[in-house]
Order: sequence, then structure tokens, then C-alpha cells
Amino acid sequence: MILVTGAAGFIGYHLCKALIARGEKVVGVDNLNDYYDVQLKKDRLNQIESEPNFSFEKIDVCDFPKLLDLFSSHQFSHVCHLAAQVGVRYSLENPFPYQKSNLEGFLNILEACRKFPLKNLVYASSSSVYGADPKIPFSEEEKSDRPISLYGATKRANELMAHSYSHLYDIPITGLRFFTVYGPWMRPDMALFKFANKIQAGESIDVYGNGKMKRNFTYIDDIIQGVMLSLDNPQPYALYNIGNDRTENLEDYIKTLETCLGKSAIKNYLPQQPGDMTETWADLSRIRQDLGYKPTTNIDTGIKKFVEWFESYFRPQL
Ligand SMILES: NC(=O)c1ccc[n+]([C@@H]2O[C@H](COP(=O)([O-])OP(=O)(O)OC[C@H]3O[C@@H](n4cnc5c(N)ncnc54)[C@H](O)[C@@H]3O)[C@@H](O)[C@H]2O)c1
Repeated sequence: MILVTGAAGFIGYHLCKALIARGEKVVGVDNLNDYYDVQLKKDRLNQIESEPNFSFEKIDVCDFPKLLDLFSSHQFSHVCHLAAQVGVRYSLENPFPYQKSNLEGFLNILEACRKFPLKNLVYASSSSVYGADPKIPFSEEEKSDRPISLYGATKRANELMAHSYSHLYDIPITGLRFFTVYGPWMRPDMALFKFANKIQAGESIDVYGNGKMKRNFTYIDDIIQGVMLSLDNPQPYALYNIGNDRTENLEDYIKTLETCLGKSAIKNYLPQQPGDMTETWADLSRIRQDLGYKPTTNIDTGIKKFVEWFESYFRPQL
């Protein structure tokens, strides 16, 4: 039995679907908060809720007694903890949800896994932990002690908390540093979704960093491949970058989106925002060597699939 937290979220939904497809029994947990359109979260859940091997519980991971009840009523062999307050820019305006969900919620998960021993705990970290680290590509060997957003700092804190719990209580724990994930059912606060929305509506798009930013855009199926490999291969304590082989210019990403939508963007170039990194680029040698991870989707294919979903799902209020 596998617990997936953040199951109504973008990555959580795709993970539940993939786990169910290979015959696993999955319990999904989410607090369905309104950081973005709750209907999108419900619509994701609607895709999987009728599956006999899936059950959903609306639980906030900050509610420790409820979390313990959940762990005591199911014998989880694996936990994939994806629930978190996401977003780099939002953390500048609203720091407290990050303290709650990402620090307190994470500690609750660690404590629950301590009280109810399991085979493997995998959790979501982020490329944001690299912050002001100057060395490209980003390697797990770097100290990563200079995050430049509170979001990145909470994710780095999770990695340190995980290390102490794996050391003290022999809990096998793996942290995955995701690099800009995109694809069908993605989050509406992410650039690709926002750009698609505005281009469709004939409105201008805000291109930060004057279009000079570079990102390691990773297609959702590649991320899910890496998460499943991690769940299947418990490590005493591990940290992995999980991204794409290529780093793309934001301009090329937008150009591909324009081609797929069949519409040109009106671009409003703006300076880089506080908290944003100029470039992200994952060194994948560790996850490749240990787990055999191999991303296969380029942006032409990935954005095409995103647009197919977006055009079938699109609702102007998002
Ligand atoms: N999408 C990316 O590009 C990306 C990049 C780096 C890291 N990550 C990490 O991956 C994980 C999943 O991200 P996502 O893109 O699917 O985001 P998401 O916001 O779509 O999913 C997170 C889910 O967690 C739920 N949640 C938040 N706080 C909760 C709480 N206290 N209790 C229970 N549920 C709660 C939300 O309702 C949401 O459905 C997060 O931990 C995120 O930080 C994502």
C-alpha cells in the first residue's frame, strides 16, 4: 500500500495514475487548498477516483493526529510525499504557508514514518535549493546552502531534516530535486500555462529576465519515471536531481508554444524578479548511475502534448 500526499496536485495526480496502472494500491491525500483553482484539483481526482485500487482522503498534513490515524489504519510500505506550498514568487508575499506545510507538514510526515516503519519514503525537493550556487550544471555534490527564496530554503531544510531522521531512526529516505515540470494537467501558476492562457486570449505575456532565462524543462512522464524508480529502489539516504538532459532558452520554449498553439505571442519584456534564478541545469549523472533514469521527452513533443490537453480543458477563468 502506497501513500501519495499532494495527490490532487499536478505531479501527485500523475503519480497516482501511474502507480494504479501497474497494479499498486494507492491512498491519496490532499487538503485541496485554494492556492490555485480548486476545480482543477477536483478534476484531476475525478480521473482516478473510480479506480478500485485508489482511495482519497482530504487531510492536511499539518493535522498530526489525523495523519497518525491514517498511518495506523493502513500499513503503508511506501510513502511519496509531494504535498507542499509551491511557488517561488508567492513565497515573497506569503511566507507563512511555507512554514506550515513545508516545515511543520514535513516534520509530521517524518514523525509518522518513524512511528510506523516502512520500506521507503520519497519526497519532493526542488532545483530551487541551488539558489546562488554559481556552478553549472547543478550537482548534488555542491553544498547548496545559499537558496534565494523562502520556498527554496524550506526545500533545503527538508533535505537536512530527512538526513537527521534517516540517520537517527534508520528510515530509508530519498529526496528528489525536481527541475521545472510541465505537461498536461500542470499548475496554472507556472509560466507555460500562463503563457498559453494569455496567447489564446490575445493578451500580452510577461517575459521575465528579458527572455534570457534558461530552464531545464522536464516533461511530467520523465519525472514520473524517476519517482517510480526511486520508490522501487530504497536508499538509506539519497538526494537526486531529476530533470531533463537539455537546458532550453525561455525564448525557444515560447516559440515552440506559439507553433503548437498556431498563434503568436505579444511579449512584454521585464527584468528578472527577486527569487528567480537565471539558469537551471541539472547534472543527472547520479540518478542515471544509481537508478538508470533516462528522460526521453524533448520540448517539441512535451509542449505539443500540453497544448492538446490545454485546448481540450481550457476555461477562461483559470
Ligand atoms: N511542478 C514543478 O515544477 C516542481 C518543481 C520543483 C519541485 N516541485 C515539488 O513537487 C511537489 C508537487 O508539486 P506540484 O507541481 O504537483 O504542485 P501542486 O501544487 O499541483 O501539488 C501540491 C498539492 O499539495 C497539496 N497540499 C499543499 N499543502 C498541503 C497540506 N498542508 N496538506 C495536504 N495537502 C497539501 C495542494 O493542495 C496540491 O494539490 C511539491 O512538493 C513541489 O514543491 C514541483
